[in-house]
Amino acid sequence: WKTIDEMDLAGKRALVRVDVNVPVEAGRVTDATRIERILPTVNDIADKGGRVILLAHFDRPKGRVVPEMSLKQIVPTLEEKLGRKVAFAEDCVGDAAQAAVDALGDGEVLLLENTRFHPGEEKNELEFAEKLAHLGDLYVNDAFSAAHRAHASTEALARLLPACAGRLMAEELSALDKALGNPERPVVAVVGGAKVSTKLDLLSNLVEKVDTLVIGGGMANTFLAAQGLDVGKSLCEHDLTGTAKEIAQKAAEKGCTILLPRDVVVAREFKAGAASEVVKAEDTPADAMILDAGPDSVAHVEMALENAKTLVWNGPLGAFEIAPFDRGTVAAAKKAAELTKAGKLVSVAGGGDTVAALNAAGVAQDFSYVSTAGGAFLEWMEGKVLPGVKALGA
Ligand code: 3PG
Repeated sequence: WKTIDEMDLAGKRALVRVDVNVPVEAGRVTDATRIERILPTVNDIADKGGRVILLAHFDRPKGRVVPEMSLKQIVPTLEEKLGRKVAFAEDCVGDAAQAAVDALGDGEVLLLENTRFHPGEEKNELEFAEKLAHLGDLYVNDAFSAAHRAHASTEALARLLPACAGRLMAEELSALDKALGNPERPVVAVVGGAKVSTKLDLLSNLVEKVDTLVIGGGMANTFLAAQGLDVGKSLCEHDLTGTAKEIAQKAAEKGCTILLPRDVVVAREFKAGAASEVVKAEDTPADAMILDAGPDSVAHVEMALENAKTLVWNGPLGAFEIAPFDRGTVAAAKKAAELTKAGKLVSVAGGGDTVAALNAAGVAQDFSYVSTAGGAFLEWMEGKVLPGVKALGA
């Protein structure tokens, strides 16, 4: 794929696909990270005299106009972060869009209304993509976090105009390549989260690529149960213990070491400040739930990190949103941050919960790279080729 450095931008109408699907409460943006991360691309094109036409989706309106899902509400934050005026068009195709594009001068920025207000967007419909293409001279995709969707503005459009990757897209792809595509070994993957069922493909792909796979969070319980341990009242997908065994078997064949919790933090209730104790994983009481990795397990993870050159992290090690069950995640995240700062580890993290956990631990800024992607990060970890990236060409 090409980058914006290879494009002739002056005086050109650049259709720039961004992901500004940010959390909004009562019409106000509560986390502007995704907006901040597109600034280099937008500023660069505008500074080179390009006319920036931002294309984006917001939420899931399912092909209908849903006023609460209008992108208009993010214009103030976008203007504030860019330090530039941002025009807004009430539709992303048709007369309203065309008039707004025609009024745009060199170096100016326009945001078009939610592409998902049109059913053609999610259907990746050529006719809809052609209407979008009509508004621009070139296409820039800066939405890695939406690249797992084969939609008109992320896929079909890339085939209709001269296309390139924006700065953020290029940065995401290069960071991810360093983590799994072409990493310095040994590579450790930390995968947590509640359920094995949502991450089967991911685990299966990782055991082929990494040297050590740390499994944490609720999904570790299914692996412990697969070893015949009684996990008490813990979250556990008992119907998937066979699959967990297959993954463990594949790991053994591929030379990947799986680390499961040895000791665990258990409680009878899942609430802030609930009485908890540390027990060996095999001693989990029948009436208790496993809610975090214990100190011995965390020390084991820390040792794996110390011996690694590359870390890829998705998902918390415990029920981190409720103290004290955040301790395992916070301790491991701090260790990874410390090793990264010391230049000993390349650390890449992604996925919604993961970024929230790293922020809560106060270490997100110390990781080598934190992806803006949720679902796209997971699909990339599954080894899938993302349609939005593929459409940009090899
Ligand atoms: C995201 O928030 O992960 C992306 O914007 C994709 O959103 P979607 O899951 O609604 O396609």
